[in-house]
Amino acid sequence: MIKDTLGRELHDLRISVTDRCNFRCSFCMPEGEEYEFFRREEILSFEEITKFVMAIIPLGVKKVRLTGGEPLLRRNLERLIAYLSELPLEDLSLTTNGFLLKEKAKLLKEAGLKRVTVSLHSLKDEVFSRLVGRKVKVYQIIEGIEESLKVGLTPVKVNVCVIRGINHTEIVDIARFFKSMGVVVRFIEFMDVGNINGWSLEKVYSAREMLELLSKRFELEPVEKSYRGEVADRYRYKDDGVEVGFISSITQPFCGDCNRLRLTADGKVLTCLFAQDCYDVKGLIRGSASDEEIREFISKIWAWRSDRYSEQRLEFLENGIMPRKVEMFRVGG
Ligand code: GTP
Ligand code: 5AD
Ligand code: SF4
Ligand code: SF4
Repeated sequence: MIKDTLGRELHDLRISVTDRCNFRCSFCMPEGEEYEFFRREEILSFEEITKFVMAIIPLGVKKVRLTGGEPLLRRNLERLIAYLSELPLEDLSLTTNGFLLKEKAKLLKEAGLKRVTVSLHSLKDEVFSRLVGRKVKVYQIIEGIEESLKVGLTPVKVNVCVIRGINHTEIVDIARFFKSMGVVVRFIEFMDVGNINGWSLEKVYSAREMLELLSKRFELEPVEKSYRGEVADRYRYKDDGVEVGFISSITQPFCGDCNRLRLTADGKVLTCLFAQDCYDVKGLIRGSASDEEIREFISKIWAWRSDRYSEQRLEFLENGIMPRKVEMFRVGG
């Protein structure tokens, strides 16, 4: 087990498999910006990713989550899943925007994926389409969720990024809808990821406000975190036991327990969602470094780690400090 400067142990690894996306969410890849994506030769192959994961499992990695961009755009992703499912991990999951999920769910399950988390921020076609920058019918995403339930990619979770003035009025409807499907919704406070996502504190609808709102409509009881470092505060509806969660990175930061390492599609390691610095591991992997050498490199990075951006954010804001951060579509949340 390795600990960083704040005593936090490595536990989760989040791997972005592509920086491309079939959506253009206004809070991630707004219109009017120029985007340059990684070239094919720049991104890690499935073998390279697997080598990296194998090398660092002895450091404490127990959970792996595949992200993007949109991970289902990476061709033959099921091959990577098959490789990773052979490794001694407790969890192997994927975060997707759900657009291609209906057609891919079965294949993903058969390859060895355990579960999926789908991002869905509105139940209204018009609001959703505006948010994701493309005309999409919400039912198409719902069908992907239903298919995931059917093939057993469970528990299926839905991430809702709540933006005041855009979708906060839908919180109760979204909660009710997924409660009836037995799907766990996590309402996420809108975060200042990247440099172009149009964030401001006024657009943040706090987890406390969300909980108060839901508590007026449903009887809820708190549920213990299932492991140290879990980001969502969990609750359960008393009548049917379905869970709902809140991720309050803005108003109640959880850096003290943060146990996540992130790997980008082009082979850079980040120690924070809001990181300014990254460390290249592609060179090491391609340069045929041994597992031991890769492990040593990551041990050192983790040992130096002192990130706690969410705890510093308000101070930065007050002092007009604006660090240059990695973009969401490169780091995958
Ligand atoms: P479970 O494994 O199901 O508990 O999911 P998870 O919460 O680890 O993964 P998910 O990607 O669904 O996380 C939900 C959202 O919480 C992410 O999309 C991010 O927006 C946010 N989030 C996750 N990890 C971090 C983190 O380390 N720091 C901050 N600030 N936000 C995070
Ligand atoms: N704040 C909160 N959640 C966000 N997501 C993307 N951008 C933000 C943001 N600025 C969500 C995505 C996905 C997960 C990776 O994070 O919709 O569910
Ligand atoms: Fe939206 Fe995720 Fe795609 Fe960004 S990567 S545009 S948040 S679906
Ligand atoms: Fe971890 Fe950085 Fe998020 Fe804090 S802000 S919880 S250090 S990823």
